[in-house]
Amino acid sequence: MKNVPLLKVHQLHLDFIKDQKLTRVLNGLSFELHERQSLVLLGESGSGKSVTLRALLRLYEEKNIAISGEIIFNGKNVLELNKKELIDYRGKSVSMVFQESGAAFDPVYNIGYQIVEMIRAHESISYQDAKKRALDLLDMVKIPQAKQRFKAYPHELSGGMRQRAMIALALACHPKILLADEPTTALDATVQMQILLLLKELQKELNMALIFVTHDIGAATELADQIAVMYAGRIVEKAQLNTILASPLHPYTDGLFNSVVTFESKGKSLLAISGSPPRMGENIKGCSFAKRCSYVNKQCELVAPDLLLVEQAQVACWNPLVRD
Ligand SMILES: Nc1ncnc2c1ncn2[C@@H]1O[C@H](COP(=O)(O)OP(=O)(O)O)[C@@H](O)[C@H]1O
Ligand SMILES: [Mg+2]
Repeated sequence: MKNVPLLKVHQLHLDFIKDQKLTRVLNGLSFELHERQSLVLLGESGSGKSVTLRALLRLYEEKNIAISGEIIFNGKNVLELNKKELIDYRGKSVSMVFQESGAAFDPVYNIGYQIVEMIRAHESISYQDAKKRALDLLDMVKIPQAKQRFKAYPHELSGGMRQRAMIALALACHPKILLADEPTTALDATVQMQILLLLKELQKELNMALIFVTHDIGAATELADQIAVMYAGRIVEKAQLNTILASPLHPYTDGLFNSVVTFESKGKSLLAISGSPPRMGENIKGCSFAKRCSYVNKQCELVAPDLLLVEQAQVACWNPLVRD
């Protein structure tokens, strides 16, 4: 049983439907997540990271999307769960920390009440017991003076404290997988780092798996066991962190890593990737990165490459970079 992944996503496609028109946003994502593992989805804004996480939780109304493929959790396809199963799945199996706490907290109730309600929505437990757990959770995410903060309204907390409270809310029902959608982007650099370290610590302590979404390579390297690089609704490269850092194979991954100022690269000229990603829904025959790629050839413009194993990584490229 050990090798059975906790979550297996296979050929996930998602289109948004508007005015009877379909716009494809996710184009055949496949990945696996094992217990206690962390996977970072890394990509520029608009590449489909948030949509992926929302799709994993089935947060979209069915009438607004066309979705196909499989999301297998605990032997069941999440896309086929009924309403009751879905309630258990969200929160108890998989839960999410959002970029802004407004997506999780209602401004008119205090945070303690909302954590208690989350627990009581999933478990038959007394108010007192749920309150005790909520206080423990606030302690666990290192919110000082948890008893007083329990009564605070979301707007009364600083940005960093609000994110901590949202993490507490996400942990309320002991999820097996925590999804985090750029949870530190709106914070100051030092607070960002504190929250990243907290997530890392909690993941270990609570034996959770983590899917962390970011455009920030620093955050990705801090948290990832495995990185999947997303571009225009596809995974273009996927590998263990060290493998991908040592030798990115996809020209896009290479460009991304080269466009970051690191200690080592200071003083060298930065190679930004010229051009911009295709518009979603644009009908592209070949590789969606072809227009921006320095290594492009005829085949790239004709056929979209699948994700294939090359050495220790998977890469979707007809012309992966070769290292010596
Ligand atoms: N509810 C929606 N309806 C229609 N299009 C959407 C919706 N949400 C996101 N999109 C589009 O899907 C694409 C991917 O978005 P998103 O996953 O939010 O990107 P990011 O990688 O920045 O998180 C974008 O082109 C975005 O405009
Ligand atoms: Mg996003």
